[in-house]
Amino acid sequence: MCGIFGYIGNKKNAGEMILSGLKSLEYRGYDSWGVAIKKDDSQIYIEKHTGKIGDASLPAMDSSIGIGHTRWATHGGVTDANAHPHISCDKKVIVVHNGIVENYEELKKQLIKIGHTFTSETDSEVLAHQIEEFLKEEKDLHVAISKLRSQIAGMNAVIVFFPDKETFYIFKNGSPIVLGEKQNEYFVASDASAIIPYTKHVYFVEDGEMVSLNRNGISLFDSEGKNKDIDYITLSYNAEAVSRGKYPHFMLKEIYEQPTVIQNIASSQLETVKETAKRIINAYGTYLVGCGTASYACLAGTYLFSKIAKRHINFSIGSEFSYLLNFLKDTSLVIALSQSGETIDTLASVQKAKAKKAQLIALTNVLGSTLYRMADYSMLLNAGPEKAVASTKAYTAKITFLYLIAHEINRTLHEGVQNISRAVREIEGLLERKSHIQHLANRIKNKNNIFILGRGVSYAAALESALKIKEVSYMHAEGFAAGELKHGVIALIEEGTPVILFNPEDETYEDTLSAAHEVKARGAYVIGVSSRKNDVYDTFIEVKNCQDATIIPNVVIAQLMGYYLALAKGYDPDKPRNLAKSVTVK
Ligand code: G6P
Repeated sequence: MCGIFGYIGNKKNAGEMILSGLKSLEYRGYDSWGVAIKKDDSQIYIEKHTGKIGDASLPAMDSSIGIGHTRWATHGGVTDANAHPHISCDKKVIVVHNGIVENYEELKKQLIKIGHTFTSETDSEVLAHQIEEFLKEEKDLHVAISKLRSQIAGMNAVIVFFPDKETFYIFKNGSPIVLGEKQNEYFVASDASAIIPYTKHVYFVEDGEMVSLNRNGISLFDSEGKNKDIDYITLSYNAEAVSRGKYPHFMLKEIYEQPTVIQNIASSQLETVKETAKRIINAYGTYLVGCGTASYACLAGTYLFSKIAKRHINFSIGSEFSYLLNFLKDTSLVIALSQSGETIDTLASVQKAKAKKAQLIALTNVLGSTLYRMADYSMLLNAGPEKAVASTKAYTAKITFLYLIAHEINRTLHEGVQNISRAVREIEGLLERKSHIQHLANRIKNKNNIFILGRGVSYAAALESALKIKEVSYMHAEGFAAGELKHGVIALIEEGTPVILFNPEDETYEDTLSAAHEVKARGAYVIGVSSRKNDVYDTFIEVKNCQDATIIPNVVIAQLMGYYLALAKGYDPDKPRNLAKSVTVK
């Protein structure tokens, strides 16, 4: 997790740019933040704080080089001392780090033995001291960094700042790092969205590569240390896509972007849909893998493929797939779903699948992400940057792809596209009626539990809906298969317990209605989501029938519910406690 940002250039406001870069990377972790900036008078300015950056500003200073970091704590609590950057004893090596130095305890012990003083409990601090130590025997920065890399274990992305030499060394293994270039100015960040306000000309550093960067220019070295040309690419989105615009929160903005994102997939991604369908047909078994929201998109996929494409497609959550993949063959196909393309639980397991020679398809939102580059074939969600921690538009984009692929396998793509257009209209209608959902949120905000029920693909929707509500409102919400409730959980229903019931007019309709009666008889407050009104519902949210694409507007209701519950309880929906957008640790 963690966000890192660095700048070297000819502008005098490095501090401002670094702070603004960190603000846009804060979704990656917001336990603490810090900067190390070399001012034009050669003084090094360090500032570190716990908590969110918020409206923080730095004192006015002229500077054209520095680095910054926003932290999601792993090793060591949330304290000022544990905030990055970390500095060597001689103050000549300054480091920001995303990832984990798995063998840091051993390295730290040795460094302490030979006289180094540590000021934090982090694993990251060993990097600064270890480089200082290597530089005592070896003056060449390049050699010292290479030595360090051969000593540390684990996934990482690092900027090492040598203030005396006004030089950065940048390297990565697993975690993302992007370089941006613009006429004698260089930017380094964990995510291109932090660079886009300055330049669209970027390079995604590959695992094993190393970059040295100073005022004389930039050099890239491959994993064998050989010099390599940098093939910059031009990003297709612009700075507006990464700002909140007229919306009070990114989450609301991203909810509102869904009609456009989904319609675009149905209009301009059909070649990708067809190619993936072909690969599924040719595979000896297909497995969908993802974490969190992506996992619930996978689960929905299993229902959609079964019903529409008449195909059994397996599914596993990313962190469990490693223990399930012994039967994979070189003809197996793994489709990994990940908004960020950086979720380590997903990456680590698909890496194992690749080692078994399975084919890998990525369905991700981030061009150049680790998953994107790892895959044999990559589908881009093209949803635009998703900044709110809780995933909304990336989820519905994933469902749209899976739904269309299932239709393509069934040779009914045209029908699939029409249903997606219906779903889009339904979302637009819901957005117009959002005050009804806000009103409901205010009504149920003080309840202890919320249950969400559905059968078939609506069961998958129920799980995603509950996650959305939990993530941002911290309320206890659980999704259940409507038929399973009576086998135990119904014991939790009491007078006034809110139950959201997804009841589309499909093969589940009558049975789901029975569940509504069962909970209502025990006092539940039933919120019916359906195309057909029924007296059993205490309140009714109409969603017209879009066949199996109805899952899309249904989940949008829960996204809005989560958003308004968070507001009603006074929480920031964009940055929920304890969570990070991109989870790059196991
Ligand atoms: C984190 C986020 C979740 C997200 C999950 C998977 O846990 O907090 O909201 O669903 O990662 O993210 P991915 O980028 O792989 O889709």
